[in-house]
This record gives sequence, C-alpha cells and structure tokens, in this order.
Amino acid sequence: MLDNAIAVIDFGSQYTQLIVRRIRELGYFSRLYQPEQLRETGRPAAVILSGGPRSTTEENAPDIDFEYLKGMNVPVLGICYGMQLLNLKWGGAISPHTTREYGPANLRVLNAEGLLAGIGESQIWMSHSDTCKMPEGATVLATNQEGTPVALKWAEDWMGIQFHPEVTHTHEGAEILRNFLELAENPPRFEMESFKDQLVAQVKDEIGDHMVVCGVSGGVDSSVLAVLLHEAGVNVRYLFVDNGLLRKNEVEEVEAQFKGVGVEIETIDASERFLSALEGVEDPERKREIIGNLFIDVFFGAAGQIDRLAQGTLYPDVIESASSGSIASKIKTHHNRVDRILELKAQNKVVEPLHELFKDEVRELGRSLGLSSEVVGRHPFPGPGLAVRCPGAITAQRLEVIREADAIFIQMLKKHGLYDQVWQAYAAALPCKTVGVKGDERAYEWPIVLRAVSSIDAMTAEWIRFEPDFLAELSNRILNEVPHVNRVLYDISTKPPASIEWE
Ligand code: XMP
Repeated sequence: MLDNAIAVIDFGSQYTQLIVRRIRELGYFSRLYQPEQLRETGRPAAVILSGGPRSTTEENAPDIDFEYLKGMNVPVLGICYGMQLLNLKWGGAISPHTTREYGPANLRVLNAEGLLAGIGESQIWMSHSDTCKMPEGATVLATNQEGTPVALKWAEDWMGIQFHPEVTHTHEGAEILRNFLELAENPPRFEMESFKDQLVAQVKDEIGDHMVVCGVSGGVDSSVLAVLLHEAGVNVRYLFVDNGLLRKNEVEEVEAQFKGVGVEIETIDASERFLSALEGVEDPERKREIIGNLFIDVFFGAAGQIDRLAQGTLYPDVIESASSGSIASKIKTHHNRVDRILELKAQNKVVEPLHELFKDEVRELGRSLGLSSEVVGRHPFPGPGLAVRCPGAITAQRLEVIREADAIFIQMLKKHGLYDQVWQAYAAALPCKTVGVKGDERAYEWPIVLRAVSSIDAMTAEWIRFEPDFLAELSNRILNEVPHVNRVLYDISTKPPASIEWE
C-alpha cells in the first residue's frame, strides 16, 4: 500500500516524527526509516534525511549508503545533520563550532526557485553546532541575516537546509516542504477516505477465512480497529476484560457503544481476580505488573487457541520499537509487545491494521467509518484503570468513591461544554482520611483530587484554568453526592515535573 511513500531517514533528531507528520498534513504519505533501512524503502518518490544530535565529525557518526541513495534517482533533501552529511558526501567539509546555534534566525533567499519558490524573508529555527564548507559546484540558495549559507544545492534535485522546516517556529517551513515534494514525480497523495477503502480491502485480504480475536477497551484505538474489522466483514471475536478498575457504568456503556455500530462483544468479568491479586499492594510499579500479567492470562485464557490476533498498535509505537537504541524504548515495554504476543508475531498471526497511523489520523479514520464524535473524542484512559488513580492500597470503598466523583466531574464538563477542550480529566483518591464536620458531627473521611489537563501528545501537560464558579459547583456536588468524602482538591501541577496520572 502506497509503496512510493516519501522516505524520511531518522538520524535521531527529536523532531523527526514531526517531519512525517508535516508531510502527511500536506496531503502526502510518508514513512520513517532508520539509516540502515534505506534499501527497505521500496520506491519512494523522494527522500529526506533528518537532523540528529550527533556531529558528522565524530567517530562512528551515523552514515548513509550514498551510492545506493544516488542510484534511487529521486529528489533528496537533507535537514541539519542530514544536510551536513550530504555536504560531506558531495565533497565538501564540516567544521565543528564551539558554540551551538539554537533558536530563531532570519532567512535571506538568494534563489527563489524550486525549494524556496515563493519564500520571502522569514523566521527560521536553527539547532546545530557545525557549519558546512561547501564543495566546488554547489550553490547557495539562502543565507541567514549574517550571510552564512543555510540552504545549499549540490546538484539537480539534491538540496540541504540547515534549519528545521518541520517546527512551527520556522514560519514558512510547510511551504518549503511542499516545494520540495513538488519536485518529486507522482508523490503519493494521502486522503483518508481512499486510505480507508484500501485498509478494508487489505484487512479482508490479510485475514481471509481465519478467525480473529480482538481485545477492546472502549478507547479510541480499539474501537476504530473493531469497526474496521467489522467493515471488512471478517470473522472476529471481540473480547472485553472487566478488570474491576473501570469507571462508573463503563462496562454497560462500552457494550452499548459497540452494539450501536453492530458489533457484539464478549465481556469477561475478571474483576474479583484482579482485585484480590491487588489486595494490600501499594507500590505503583507492582500494581502495573500484576495488572499487566493478569490481563494477559485472562485474555489468552478466554481466547483459547489463537488463529489471528488483531491489535490497535499505532505508528508511534512501531517507530519506538524499531529504534531499539532509543532511551524511550528502553524505559517502556509496550503492552502489545509482550512475549505471548511476540510468539504470535513470529508466526505471522498478529494483524495490526492501524500501524501506519498517528493518533489524530486514527480519529479521522474512525469518523469516516461512522464512529460517533463521542467515541472518537473520548479522553484517554490508562490500561491499569483506576488503580493508577488510587495511591496506596486499593479497596472497594475507595474505588467506589473515585467512580462517583469522576462521574460527576465528567458529567459537569460535558454539561458546560468543556469536555472537548480538555485532554484528560479525572478524579483520584488520596491514601489518607482528613477531619471535617458533617451535620454536627466530626467526619473523618476521604479527600478527592480532581485533575484536568491540556496536552498535545501527553509528553507535557498544563492544568486547566477553570472558572471559580465551575469549581464551586463541582466541589458542592461531590461533597453532597459522594458518600465518605469531605474534601475536594484541584491539582495545579504541570507535567513535568508531575505526570498526568497520580501513579
Ligand atoms: P503520565 O501519567 O505518564 O501519562 O503523564 C501520560 C498518558 O499516558 C496514560 N498512561 C497510561 N496508559 N497504561 C496506559 O495504557 C499505563 O500504565 C499508563 N500510565 C499513563 C495517561 O492516562 C496519559 O494519557
């Protein structure tokens, strides 16, 4: 599918995924590859070499198979490290600078054709420490305000830029990328409606008559996956594990949501198993471990012999697992990459139809498959559920308190039209009781913490500035309607240093 996707080669810059995103936003299809995967790119319409944290002057600096790249005969753009590497390959030199140039600069265009057609004097974003001494025959396309070259051309269709067009601080970055893509022959257009049709056909073809097992949670990814499989008309068992850590009415709501799109799910009530395994456990990582392992046991126990397993793995997970050297991939073992699943993968029994898409693209796909905006716009909910919102030992009463307060919070957000402006909102409990007065009596009861954040990708988050009247109404309702609660707190911590969840 889309085998001429624009290939972005990853030299490790923190912005590399953004290059892929920007190209897709421009309506073209793009994929990310490691430098050693150059031969796996197929027949890309163009190649972009990303920036990176290393210097080409270092020993063992990341490299590219230049002869192979030349033989591909497509337009090539080097960005930052990518430009320096290409400059060396074309016979130029790189001189290391003692200081790093980081931040805004001004673009002065000398050659307003091709890559820089229609681009005027504008802000660009730099992040580098080396400079290029260009080889004979190369042309300077643009400089910064001090006259230092920031855009070079070594040969027809071979260009490099020292700044980052993928970040919004480069004001005309999207136009520069578009200009570059226009140099390519038939760059692949990316349009969700036809991509959806191709996906449905591909799923049908890949699964054929096999029986598929698909885990669902009610979250966006598994819901989109489920309707996609349904649309493809393949044989599927949809399994939903109730781990006893779900929110108020969540089981009923998830069942109804799927029924609404014609999908029957099997709910496995394993709540007692989970809660008894968690009894007395206080350590957050231990909780996660117990929940993760038990989930696998329950799920695979219910599924029996698996012929095919469908998973809602997204592109960022694939990229992360592929770049095995990355720090992120060492910290996190994705729940969809555990041993049992890796065994199935080795037997080619895992189907991951969403593996080329970013989260917002999955939402768009969901909409085009007829999922309601309520489902598609749902706040993320962590796999370990309310366990990570209940610091200390988990008890039935504390879970009940969280459920009731959480339901009021979410209902109030929807009533005031605020739900869609919030990335994630929830109620959490604290592992202590506090003193209060109810009626004429001393009340030694639980406090509730409310958290609501805005975020782009959950890597950073800001707390939401609600109106005091909204907070007052919320607090009143929780104090009056939720038994065993006598105090309401609002979490005003940014991420970092706080995380979004409490554990
Ligand atoms: P943190 O708490 O790390 O959360 O700031 C970032 C995002 O990830 C979600 N999250 C999880 N999701 N399993 C999940 O499936 C987990 O263990 C987990 N921990 C956090 C969190 O809800 C937020 O959206």
